[in-house]
Amino acid sequence: MDGNELVLVCPSEDMEEEVLRYKEEHFACGDMQVHGSGGLAYYDRYDEWLNRIRSMRRNTTDNPVQTSTFFSRRVTDGKLIGCIKIHHTLTDELESGGHIAYGIRPSERGKGYGRQQLLLCLEYARQLQMKQVIIACDRDNAASAKTAMSCGGRLVKEFEEDGIPKQHYLIEV
Ligand SMILES: CC(C)(COP(=O)(O)OP(=O)(O)OC[C@H]1O[C@@H](n2cnc3c(N)ncnc32)[C@H](O)[C@@H]1OP(=O)(O)O)[C@@H](O)C(=O)NCCC(=O)NCCS
Repeated sequence: MDGNELVLVCPSEDMEEEVLRYKEEHFACGDMQVHGSGGLAYYDRYDEWLNRIRSMRRNTTDNPVQTSTFFSRRVTDGKLIGCIKIHHTLTDELESGGHIAYGIRPSERGKGYGRQQLLLCLEYARQLQMKQVIIACDRDNAASAKTAMSCGGRLVKEFEEDGIPKQHYLIEV
């Protein structure tokens, strides 16, 4: 087995402590967001974040767009490595943010995990029978753009949002 292999896991109650450590590592490194987590940074209570993530996964009248959120876990030692979320469809409101958002914990960046995690998420998108996904990046976020490109992403749009230059990368699933 490759020592760096990741698997996607759904957040659950028994992951509270390791998720808290994952979040705190971001704050300790000066990241005020936990990318790809559906807002983990803004929740003081783990159970409230978990309930939100779970409700976003369901299709209800309040929640017309289903969103799946995963952690990626390294198989060899069980460490949480990254977080990734995917909207199964987009509305006009969600369009600029794209389908997929992702992050890798600061201490594990630049080791190939971002690419591996995105490939796993694209496999999940294939299971959902999605045909293509859009990934949005800030134009100055080279790591994010290169991660999208390393999985087949091609630049299809450049635009500005709130004065920030952004890009859309499209990946055929
Ligand atoms: C973006 C992010 C997920 C990439 O994950 P990662 O594990 O560091 O990336 P990988 O090691 O898999 O590298 C993927 C590609 O990005 C490139 N890359 C990685 N870090 C880079 C950096 N700091 N600067 C430039 N390129 C970088 C790699 O060289 C590789 O490109 P290649 O295939 O052409 O060689 C990670 O850096 C991160 O969590 N950043 C903060 C959160 C964020 O910006 N998320 C995206 C917005 S939602």
